[in-house]
Amino acid sequence: MWDKIKSVFSSKSQTDTEEAGEKEDTEKHDKEKVSEGEEEEAEEEVDQPGMWEETFKTHADTKPNGPSSISLDFSLPGVEHVYGIPEHADGLKLKNTDGGDPYRLYNLDVFQYELFNPMALYGAVPVLLSHNTHRTMGLFWLNAAETWVDVSSGQVGVCTDVRWISESGIIDVFIMLGPRPNDVFTQYSSLTGTQAFPPLSSLAYHQCRWNYNDQEDVSAVDQGFDEHDIPYDFIWLDIEHTDGKRYFTWDNNKFPQPKDMLQGLLDKRRKMVTIVDPHIKVDSSYKIHTEIRSRGYYIKNKDGGDYEGWCWPGNAGYPDFTNPEMRKWWASMFAYDQYEGSMENLYTWNDMNEPSVFNGPEVTMHKDALHGPWEHRDIHNLYGFYVQMATAEGQIQRSGGLERPFVLTRAFFAGSQRYGAVWTGDNAAEWGHLKMSIPMCLSLGLVGISFCGADVGGFFKTPSAELLVRWYQAGAYQPFFRAHAHLDTPRREPWLFGPDNTALIREAVRQRYTLLPYWYLQFYHAQRTGQPVMRPLWVEYPEDIATFSIDNEFLIVLPVEIYHMFNQPDTFSSSDLLALLSPSQVWYDVHTFQRHDGAQNLSIPVTMSSIPVFQRGGSIICRKNRVRRSSSCMENDPYTLYVALDSQGNAEGEIYIDDGHTFKHKTDKQFIHRRLSFTANSLSSRSVPLTNIIIPTRPCSPCVSQVNILGAQKPDAVTLTATDGGESSVEFEFDPDTAVLTLRKPGVNAGVNWTLHLR
Ligand code: NOJ
Repeated sequence: MWDKIKSVFSSKSQTDTEEAGEKEDTEKHDKEKVSEGEEEEAEEEVDQPGMWEETFKTHADTKPNGPSSISLDFSLPGVEHVYGIPEHADGLKLKNTDGGDPYRLYNLDVFQYELFNPMALYGAVPVLLSHNTHRTMGLFWLNAAETWVDVSSGQVGVCTDVRWISESGIIDVFIMLGPRPNDVFTQYSSLTGTQAFPPLSSLAYHQCRWNYNDQEDVSAVDQGFDEHDIPYDFIWLDIEHTDGKRYFTWDNNKFPQPKDMLQGLLDKRRKMVTIVDPHIKVDSSYKIHTEIRSRGYYIKNKDGGDYEGWCWPGNAGYPDFTNPEMRKWWASMFAYDQYEGSMENLYTWNDMNEPSVFNGPEVTMHKDALHGPWEHRDIHNLYGFYVQMATAEGQIQRSGGLERPFVLTRAFFAGSQRYGAVWTGDNAAEWGHLKMSIPMCLSLGLVGISFCGADVGGFFKTPSAELLVRWYQAGAYQPFFRAHAHLDTPRREPWLFGPDNTALIREAVRQRYTLLPYWYLQFYHAQRTGQPVMRPLWVEYPEDIATFSIDNEFLIVLPVEIYHMFNQPDTFSSSDLLALLSPSQVWYDVHTFQRHDGAQNLSIPVTMSSIPVFQRGGSIICRKNRVRRSSSCMENDPYTLYVALDSQGNAEGEIYIDDGHTFKHKTDKQFIHRRLSFTANSLSSRSVPLTNIIIPTRPCSPCVSQVNILGAQKPDAVTLTATDGGESSVEFEFDPDTAVLTLRKPGVNAGVNWTLHLR
């Protein structure tokens, strides 16, 4: 194995590994004389080609510090399953890399990435989780240089060996001992922070393409959603909206009145995202460039001049986001008076922040470029992290510290969860890519980054109507839900595929909207605890070996409540396991309320309308069933509770409510957080200790307007005991076919104590 690893740092490129032979190693550094006694050791240290300078294709790497790679091996006795180290387009469980390339962590702008490949992609989180029935453990290799991870079976008994190698830096490793998966998540989040609590609207549906052409186009698409009764919250503008790829500007012909456009959206309680990439056009009439240049904020080349490379605008400079002063300045550019045409409903997308340099080695920056005293080599994988950090800070500052930001990033590192969302980059309109979106997001969730999604429909190529519909159905149950498409693809707004497909997409998007209170609750928890929102089955069933390799099913939760499985359409009538652990576990189909007992294989009929989603018996979920044109329009709408009884007739859940967009939940403790519990035929709402600060003043706002109890028996009567002890009777209906008991208009306030009794 060592030979393979040694070759790693001489081969340099994943795209051109085969071409490594072409590499010309030039100058060698003068060796220091060694004393006679050290001769043997000195022999081993004989300079190898490429140690002191390398060329790769036409690129030279001066390597002024010479060879500086570090490595450490870990043996994990008793471990067969390891996970993590995103980002790779590969299965959830890491493969044995013996005989093949190791997993590579080096943020790159990859064109048309391959599936089931350990090649580097846009982001890197050097965290690996090991798991067996006794213990989950984490290894955090804190190093932002190019890193390789080799996974192999140990020599003796059941064992996994993991070798980490980084090109430079120091060995700085955190071992997180668990022993439960949740303990590892807590331990890791204490080191790198938890998922930022996003504005509620950013958990809703996003409509993007490269590009919406002009203001009229934006307004037509916006209207299209209303005409087809499909909700959406954000419409996105890609690079073509700018004046010649000068970020923070607008193309005056296409977007002459950005504020009118934004106001139009605001009137409908909708929002917009514009792209702001970190490559800055070198143009002396462009304010952003002249300021960065005059302040000395650009990354330098090895000779001390401003580093320049090609990207969308042509020749560009790259601000040094590792410099706190630069970040402060960048953040100030989001102020409303700096970013002209911006308003409070405008948010940001940071793309190309690996960074992408079209004419650089492997389409990125030269490793000998300089960030103050540091070589780019040392901090490469952190660049995108800092871009998103500075952007999120800018959004917070423009609101005077009041509003939560929303920033999407393509490149990321350990800790990026603190600044917003990530997506899986330039996927393709292929079934394999749809399927891969699940393990890719699950892997990110395991290492703290919960707010993840894949381009719905696939970025490259053109999806069939069936693939598009299925992708909406899958995306509706993944944390970040955005459709996106390449510039050269035909338009694919949801209503362009015939009324039947429009109806299916509408239904998928609407399902997302009804479940937003539940998503929001999960993100509230993720922010507080660092637990992943989208979870592999093994995290919830850590002792059930049958779950350890499953990555086409997942749970959305804490504690687990929804169970979702997604395969290619032809394999929908699958033999996937449903309730895997406890034979007494019960699952309810969220659409039909049909009850399934656990520990069985379940065949799901293949119809285009089936989205196999199940609520676990024993859980209570809050929904808002009245879907309007955006999540903000649903702000004051009432809640419906879905109480899914377990085999003992009990259920537990929570409800969390705040204003959905400010930091007041933190600064002023303005939120409602209640524990809902169904036991002994009574459903009650109680404050989560020490957290419930808002005292609602209006009788039924926020209101619980309906309660559905799944797996119930018919009662003789239902009564409500209100906070003041007063009793009243509640209307109900019982459907013997589905065993669903519906309590109509209990009219209870979601923020106070109450109990509903079934008698
Ligand atoms: C690359 C991104 O991955 C893609 O989503 C975007 O549309 C293009 N850059 C253009 O900005």
